[in-house]
Amino acid sequence: MPYPEQLKELIKVVESTRAERVARKKKNEEVPFLSLDARTDRLKYHPDFKDEGRHELSIGPSKGYKIAHEMAEVLEAHSRVNPADVDLSKTDYETDVLILGGGGAGTSAAILAAEQGCKVIIATKLRHGDANTMMAEGGIQAATKGHKDSPYFHYLDIMGGGHFNNVPELAETLANNAPGAIKWLESQGCNFSKYPDGTMKTIHGGGTSRKRMHYAADITGAEIMRTIRDEARNHSDDIQVLEFSPAVELILNEKGECAGAVLYNMETEEYITVKAKSIIMATGGSGRLHIQGFMTTNHYGATADGIVMAYRAGVKICFLHTVQYHPTGIVFPEQAEGILITEKFRGSGANLVNIEGQQFVNEREPRDVEAASIIKECIEDGKGIPTPTGKVGIWLDSPMIEDLAGPGTVEREFPGKFILYKRFGIDISKEPMLIYPTLHYQNGGLEFKNTGHTSLPGLFVAGEVGGGIHGENRLMGNSLLDIIVYGRIAGKSAADFANENVNGSKLSLEHVVKYNEEADKAGIAKDKVAPMLLPNYTDARTREKQLTSHYVGNMR
Ligand code: FUM
Repeated sequence: MPYPEQLKELIKVVESTRAERVARKKKNEEVPFLSLDARTDRLKYHPDFKDEGRHELSIGPSKGYKIAHEMAEVLEAHSRVNPADVDLSKTDYETDVLILGGGGAGTSAAILAAEQGCKVIIATKLRHGDANTMMAEGGIQAATKGHKDSPYFHYLDIMGGGHFNNVPELAETLANNAPGAIKWLESQGCNFSKYPDGTMKTIHGGGTSRKRMHYAADITGAEIMRTIRDEARNHSDDIQVLEFSPAVELILNEKGECAGAVLYNMETEEYITVKAKSIIMATGGSGRLHIQGFMTTNHYGATADGIVMAYRAGVKICFLHTVQYHPTGIVFPEQAEGILITEKFRGSGANLVNIEGQQFVNEREPRDVEAASIIKECIEDGKGIPTPTGKVGIWLDSPMIEDLAGPGTVEREFPGKFILYKRFGIDISKEPMLIYPTLHYQNGGLEFKNTGHTSLPGLFVAGEVGGGIHGENRLMGNSLLDIIVYGRIAGKSAADFANENVNGSKLSLEHVVKYNEEADKAGIAKDKVAPMLLPNYTDARTREKQLTSHYVGNMR
C-alpha cells in the first residue's frame, strides 16, 4: 500500500532537511563515527546484550554455553526420527560426496568436488537455490584493486568488525582467497556491475576501510546463485540434486566417521537414506527461528538444521552468543516486513533520519553498532516514526542518492527494491523507506578449520552454518564471499577425503539414541523435536502436515 496521509505528512519533515544533509555529505561533514568506547556503550541497546534473551545449554558437546533461547530450544530437542525404525542395512542412495544444502556454499562445493572426479549428491530442503544466497543484495568483498587495498587491510576489517574475537586463520583464509573467488565467479559468467572501460565498480560497506564491495546492482546474490547453479547443472553426470529433501540426521559408521544422512522427502513424505564417503554441511542459517521475536530477511527454510544435526553427532558450536540484526529491514508496508534493504543504499549516500528529520548516526558504522543506534533512537529517545499498525521505524532517505549521484540512479542501481516498492505505489527515488533492524545472519555456528574439516572425520563445513570467521559480528559482503571461498575449500577437502577413504560398512544412528537419552535425562519434553525444517507459523497444522504414512520415526 502507498504511504497513508499521516506518513506523507512526516515525509515532509525529511524533505525539509534534505538539502542541508546533502550539502554536508558533499563536504564530508557528517555525523562522526563513534569512538571505540562509545561503540561499546551503544551496544547496550543491541538485542545480544539482553541477558534474559539467553539460555544455558543443558546437553551436548557445548553444554554450559549460553545462547539465544530459540537456538537452545532446537539444539536441546529430541530427534524427529526413532533410530530403531530406520533400516540402515540397505540405503536408498550411495555417493562419494553428499552435500546438505543447495545454496551458494553447497553448490560451489559440489562443483569443486565434481571437478576432483567425485560423484556428488546435493540434498536440499526446497528447490536448488532457495537459500539466503539468492536473497543477498549488496555485494561481495575482495581486495582486487591493488593500489590502496590488499588482503591485509581486508583481514583487519574482518577482525575489527568481529571485535577481534574471530578465529584468525579463518579470517585470513577468507581475505587471502577473496580476489581468486571473484576471478572464479567471473570465469563462470557472473555479471558484476562495471564501468564502461570494463573495470568493476566497488563501494564501501559498513566497517570497511577501503572500497572493495563488488556488486551486481542490488541483486548480487541472485546473480551469483544463477551462475553457479547453471554450472552445477552443467555437471549433471556427476552432480545429482534431490530437491524438497532436507536432511534430518547424520549417519555415522563403525569407525566413528560421518558416513551419510537420513533425508525427509517433503513431497512423498518418506524418509530416505544416503550413504557417502564424505559429507558437507552447507545448510545455512537460522533467521526463521525469529530470535527475540524479530522479523527476518531469511528464506523460509533457514531453521538451523545443520547445527542441530552436527551438534548431536558431537561437533561443538561457537559464536552463537551473537546474532546479526541487519540495521535496515522493511517495517512498512507490512506485506514486505523483514525484507532486506541493502546496506548499499547507505554506502551510496542515503541517510538514516529520525522523526525530526535529523541524521543521528554515521551510516557506515559496523552493523551491530548501527542496529543498536536505530533501536536506541526509537525505543529510548522516542524519535522513531510510528507505522499505521503500531510498530516503529526510521527513515532511510533514498531520494538523497538522486541528489548526490544524479536522477535515475536509484532505479538503475537498485532495480530490485525499486520494483518491489513500486508494487506498493511507493517511488523510492522520491520517497524514503521506513526501516527497522531485522534478523539477518547467524554470526556463529559449528566449529571448523580453515580446510573445512570439523572434529568429526568425514564431515566438512561451508557457509553460514560454520562459526568463527566473522567473530562476533560479520561485515557486509563477507558472507557471499564466505560461501564461495569456504564452499570451494570444503568441496576440495571432502573430495580428497572421499578419494582416499575406504567407506566403513556398518552404518549407525547410535549417536542419536544417546542424544535422545541425554535429552530425556535433562527433562526435555518429548514434543520438542528438531530439525524444525519449516517455521511453525501455523502451529499444530504445520506439524501435522509433516506426519507421514511412511513415517519411520516417532509421531510427535
Ligand atoms: O546489506 C546487504 O546488502 C547485505 C549484505 C550482507 O549481509 O553481506
